[in-house]
Amino acid sequence: MSPASDPTTDDPHRGAPDRRREGDGERPSPHLDAADVCASAPGRVEFIGNHTDYNGGWVLGATLDRRVAVGLTRRDDEWVELTSASDVPAVRVSLGAVTSQSGEQAWANYVLGVLAVLRNEGLPVDRGFNLRVKSTLPVGAGLSSSAALELAVAFALTDAYGGPFDRKALARLARRAENEFVGVPCGLLDQAVVAFGAEDRLVRVDARTEEITTVPFPENTRLWIFRTHEAHALADAHYQERHDEAHAARDRLDDLIGPVEHLVDVSPSQLESVREKLEAPLYRRARHVITEHRRVERAVHLLERGREEEVGELLFASHASSRTDYENSTPELDFVVDRLEETDHVLGARLTGAGFGGAATAWTDTAFREAQARAVAEAYDDRFGHELEVLPGHPAPGAVVHA
Ligand code: GLA
Repeated sequence: MSPASDPTTDDPHRGAPDRRREGDGERPSPHLDAADVCASAPGRVEFIGNHTDYNGGWVLGATLDRRVAVGLTRRDDEWVELTSASDVPAVRVSLGAVTSQSGEQAWANYVLGVLAVLRNEGLPVDRGFNLRVKSTLPVGAGLSSSAALELAVAFALTDAYGGPFDRKALARLARRAENEFVGVPCGLLDQAVVAFGAEDRLVRVDARTEEITTVPFPENTRLWIFRTHEAHALADAHYQERHDEAHAARDRLDDLIGPVEHLVDVSPSQLESVREKLEAPLYRRARHVITEHRRVERAVHLLERGREEEVGELLFASHASSRTDYENSTPELDFVVDRLEETDHVLGARLTGAGFGGAATAWTDTAFREAQARAVAEAYDDRFGHELEVLPGHPAPGAVVHA
């Protein structure tokens, strides 16, 4: 590919591993004005690439223009006090006993996990701090408020206490905090997108190499989020189950067809050749991951060529595959995507993120009107008797320390 056609040559993060950026602008909230350090990070949607990240595949994500902000003020003693503008209790721990919280205090684990991992990596946090959280991003909506909080905390802590961590290191460490401290075996998608997002860009993550680049978000298109308000009580357990099934499928294929490091290394025809030897659910999980990875590669190729309608078809195909093969959709999400598929100016739509509830996202051209989104919400209310929240989305800057 020639440099002129390389979509990443004007990548805003190329060669700029620093955490501050020019023109960071105002602090996001007067509540945080008095803090020593203020940092914020956006939510994200998964544009395409469902459950590919912990299988060594590709994923494309987009940041949102809704953010989690934190204000950090150093203390002279050993106490860490965490408060939030949302309706959750304050949490106070000693630096000598940074342990996992439960019940209503569990929200603090995203903060404490990042603190623990960064200290483990040598960040010299020798005194405590107060940290206040303020968010315009809905929590529990499948828009990665947890990764946004983790990255905002990571940026604030490293700004306050130093350390040789660049943007990518912080994304990887935030993922580790979620894996080890919070206990969710997520891949790198959320943290990478939240760290590397940029105005009018999509973030591409290659989970095998952990290479993170951005590609332009077509300017004649828009994102819309449809939040179902349906948070599956067992979402984390189901996520773990899919994660384990995907790895079991990889191990079976490794036995059947030779060395398989990642599930995405298997081609669709190789998978078909051993279909009869695989348990039916493992076959379906594998087929989803293997075809989804290829859909992401194809989507990047088509985006570079301005072939948006075909990209949109891939988004619908991605949802169909999640629905039938990965079985991580819900009747509510299927209803939203089906209605969107019948709506003019919708290029593509699909569930976004882990699934099992949460949100769907639509990708539209600029002629799509809010009234059309509201019509989907009304039909949803008639059918399910509860609200479908509609949020317009726009790829916005990633995590940042504010001046
Ligand atoms: C969640 C996880 C991600 C990814 C998606 C599904 O958002 O945190 O790592 O696995 O689900 O693609």
